[in-house]
Amino acid sequence: MLTSDQIIETAEPTNIVIFGVTGDLSKRKLMPALVRMLCCGLVNTDSKILGVVNNRSEEVWLELVREGMQQFSPEIVADKKRWQKFLSRLIMVPGDLGEETTYQRIAEALVTLGGKKNAMFYCAIPPDWYGKVAQGLHKANLANQAEGYRRLVIEKPFGHSLESARLLNKELQAVFKEEQIYRIDHYLGKESVQNLLVYRFANSIMEPLWNRNYIDHIQIFASETIGIEYRAKYYEKSGALRDMIQSHLMQMMTLVAMEPPVEFTADAVSDEKMKVLNAIRSIEPEQIKMDTVSAQYASGSVNGEPVSAYVSEENVSPDSVIETFAAVRFYIDNWRWQGVPFILWSGKRMKSKASEVMIRFRKPPFNLFNSHASAPAANALVFRLQPEAGIVLRLNAKKPGLTTDNEEMVMRAPYLDNAEEVADAYEILMHDVLIGDRTLFSRADEIETSWEIVEPVLEAWKNRISVERYHAGTWDIPAMDELTKDCEGGWHKPTEYK
Ligand code: BG6
Repeated sequence: MLTSDQIIETAEPTNIVIFGVTGDLSKRKLMPALVRMLCCGLVNTDSKILGVVNNRSEEVWLELVREGMQQFSPEIVADKKRWQKFLSRLIMVPGDLGEETTYQRIAEALVTLGGKKNAMFYCAIPPDWYGKVAQGLHKANLANQAEGYRRLVIEKPFGHSLESARLLNKELQAVFKEEQIYRIDHYLGKESVQNLLVYRFANSIMEPLWNRNYIDHIQIFASETIGIEYRAKYYEKSGALRDMIQSHLMQMMTLVAMEPPVEFTADAVSDEKMKVLNAIRSIEPEQIKMDTVSAQYASGSVNGEPVSAYVSEENVSPDSVIETFAAVRFYIDNWRWQGVPFILWSGKRMKSKASEVMIRFRKPPFNLFNSHASAPAANALVFRLQPEAGIVLRLNAKKPGLTTDNEEMVMRAPYLDNAEEVADAYEILMHDVLIGDRTLFSRADEIETSWEIVEPVLEAWKNRISVERYHAGTWDIPAMDELTKDCEGGWHKPTEYK
């Protein structure tokens, strides 16, 4: 939990209305984040949390909240005083999201609460509901900011294709102004992702190296050991490309590749991200085979535990060809990055969990110690986002003894000694909504353009009848070695640093 001296800006009193408050995201992330935010002062103490609940009594709802908190933040439930204080902030608004009366009830509840009429509406609901909820709020005059701000938070996935994302933007923007809409990508809320920007732009030694003259290629990845858990219904329509690459990893790519913005404000940063997205070379249909990889996990063993194949997971079709691993090689056709491959990949049920940005530099142009020494490996700079956030720099040093042969020297700099001091991504992002800072949120054009970029790949994969398989808990994907064969060091796997 953050300490009070880490909090620079305190939010104004704001009532937080959660749609989907009995759902999994609320249980795992939102409620635990809110409780911690209240404890450390990130949420103003005059704020209330309104949960919109259908077909459940208040008693049942509060018991669900307690059960969730017991599972994900047991220390709060154990602290009776804090827990009671948190409970005193919860208000249930009964109602069905499909009915106008629900939104009127929310409006009445907000009036009853008195004070400032700031409100944040958090949509932790299935995406099909986003547009309908925005409409409902508008009809109940809850998008109107005359008496206080009104901000709408939209969870990922934002659409499932270019067309659906455009439509959703249209629906939302018809009733809310763009500056009222906060599209969440929780990767941007990770402290280590923001740290990437600070490393880039607060250190002058980075900039001269940050271009095609020194960099061979970049790999940005999220490797997970978990499977699809309870989310088959969603995942069967999504797959790894939509779930991770179009959103989290492409957002990270824009941060790695963008030019320094003129100031650290939402629009200045989004403008630079958009320039990167606009410069991404379109993937022609005949290139798809060469520039992408898709695969699906078969049974195997992860961390010593046997796990079943994707197709044997509950609610997955036995002949599903959805990819649980995806990789795409992008090129950014601009002055800085011409010819540098950006390889984005993500997989479930891999051998180890890690999210990293790996910058691989070019090899030394000439091996001075050629006659008796092995060729030095190309240097690499790795930003590890999780777990154990930090930076790793791989250099070459002389082997001790009467030789000029070299060996790799790995310099590690952990980002933090005390992980407790880090706020969770949801705390950071909800706090940003409360203080009206949209810098870590995706603008409408960014989302649409990233869908546009992956659209040819989605199109090509749509009608496939088979998919490669890899054993769960392995790196057994030969197509990845092929995709990275011309890259210095080949496919970079996180275990190399353990
Ligand atoms: C979510 C995806 O957006 O991010 C999940 O839908 C994925 O499939 C998750 O597991 C990964 O997030 P994190 O923070 O654990 O890397």
